[in-house]
Amino acid sequence: MSFADMPKVELHLHLEGAAPPGFIRGLAQERKLDISNIFTPDGTYEYRDFWHFLDVYEAASSCLQSPEDYARVTTAVLAESAASGVVYSEAFLSPDFCGGRDMAAWKEYLTAICEAADKAEAEHGIIMRGIVTPIRHFGPEKAREVALCAQETAGDWVTGFGIAGDERAGNLADFTYAFDMAREAGLRLTAHAGEWCGPDEVIAALNHLKVERIGHGVRAIEDPNLLKRLASEGVVLEVCPGSNVTLGVYSDLKAHPVKALRDAGVKVSVSTDDPPFFYTSMTDEFNNLSDAFGWGEEDFNELNAIALAAAFCDDQTRARVKEKLEKKHV
Ligand code: ADE
Ligand code: ZN
Repeated sequence: MSFADMPKVELHLHLEGAAPPGFIRGLAQERKLDISNIFTPDGTYEYRDFWHFLDVYEAASSCLQSPEDYARVTTAVLAESAASGVVYSEAFLSPDFCGGRDMAAWKEYLTAICEAADKAEAEHGIIMRGIVTPIRHFGPEKAREVALCAQETAGDWVTGFGIAGDERAGNLADFTYAFDMAREAGLRLTAHAGEWCGPDEVIAALNHLKVERIGHGVRAIEDPNLLKRLASEGVVLEVCPGSNVTLGVYSDLKAHPVKALRDAGVKVSVSTDDPPFFYTSMTDEFNNLSDAFGWGEEDFNELNAIALAAAFCDDQTRARVKEKLEKKHV
């Protein structure tokens, strides 16, 4: 059975990481940039491991050099997501890549992204919201500049603040100030943790950054006390099974803890992370989970409901998305 036309809610998607490789190759040609070393001969992204993936990600992102480029990539990404049944998408946006944390530039990039998102909603019915996201390995000082960008643009559309990048770089506690700034601006909070590091990193995200969602968080499975805490506090995990398997966190989907996390009472949602990098889509994620664990419509309804309840949007938007889910087909 295929879940292709089931409506889906996606909470964890990196805008640059969702850029189709052909689109990035085209931009590189237009700009006369040589990034041939990031592609396989058949034109997909190529990398050795997670840390090389981060380099390739930054090389691909360096081709996006103007607000117009970001409008184009937003259009391409949302068309792909909509084709996979996604009706609501939260995307990580990085002022580091969008204008180098310059406030005026960031506002221009954001305006272009929002305009493209409005057009995509009119065309495909998909609703997008943005989570402003510093890159951990760029360090806490730059994260504060990113938090300033987030503060200035927080509102109905920029609704969240997160952190991505190399989980093994620096201490999460050093980002507390940036997260406090974002919280004071009314932004909802999430952090990548427990993907490459163990349960302690998830605990650090909860204790220091006071996030309500965790990006990945899968290695919480190694700490029974943490599992109890996640379940009792209702923390939502943005689990990206295809990403974890392709990057080698787990050997295959059957060895992935997504089912065990649900069985432990933890609130789980499912996302793609960087779909073309991990050769996946939301439809692939649902179909693969169905094959590996026998999950069916009821399970995916529950994943969607958890994601929608935890979505960083206002209640009016939540009600509109709920209507889209209740239609059962896109
Ligand atoms: N940036 C893009 N994808 C990421 C991931 N899976 N982990 C951390 N940072 C990322
Ligand atoms: Zn991610």
